[in-house]
Amino acid sequence: MQQNGKKIITVGVTGASGAVLAQKMLGLLDSDARVERIHLVVTETGLRLFAEELAIPSSSAHQLVQRILGHPSQKIEVISNKDVGASIASGSYAVDAMAVIPCSVGTLAKIAAGTCDDLIARSADVMLKEARKLVLCVRDTPFSRIHLENMLRAQQAGAVIMPAIPSFYHHPKTIDDLVVQYVCRVLAQMELPQDVMFRWPGSATAKEAKA
Ligand SMILES: Cc1cc2nc3c(=O)[nH]c(=O)nc-3n(C[C@H](O)[C@H](O)[C@H](O)COP(=O)(O)O)c2cc1C
Repeated sequence: MQQNGKKIITVGVTGASGAVLAQKMLGLLDSDARVERIHLVVTETGLRLFAEELAIPSSSAHQLVQRILGHPSQKIEVISNKDVGASIASGSYAVDAMAVIPCSVGTLAKIAAGTCDDLIARSADVMLKEARKLVLCVRDTPFSRIHLENMLRAQQAGAVIMPAIPSFYHHPKTIDDLVVQYVCRVLAQMELPQDVMFRWPGSATAKEAKA
């Protein structure tokens, strides 16, 4: 955390389905007064998924943020995934929390194996070695034994495994309702709870039974 009490966050975006999850997270982080800086790293396939799923073409860093958010950002710094010498590749640079959203099973494998061969893998490795919060929003289905073992390995090293699985207990009406609730759960893990998150008040059936 910064001296002013504000947070520094890293967001890694990989080539798994669910670019909209990254878009929603970046929007919420950008408008969050508790957040000072957001380091955004997008893999080559992550860029392809922004194009495939959200019709956001690959472009300069400045244009990418503008296209993802619909407006420019003072907080979001895009860093190349090849730049393993960036600030976030060092434990001496105090990132408060990192999410990989969505996280492909390929990047999961790199993180579980500690390869550190690109900036997302290296930054995630740094979060684990420094015992800082790392949330992996793994997306694929079904999972193979390799995926499951990699998730276990990453979890045992300190990562939070939050597969991109929607919830329905808040009666979502739109895809945005599903996306918001999921992303808010991820942000709550990163100690950035959001007012828009639905909190389960206890089931009506159970309350009726008690009365
Ligand atoms: C349209 C499209 C959808 C994909 N969806 C997934 C997915 O949901 N989960 C996954 O793990 N990989 C998915 N892949 C495959 C990954 O993009 C691929 O394994 C890639 O090498 C991952 O690299 P990265 O982790 O560096 O982004 C998809 C690829 C494409 C082109």
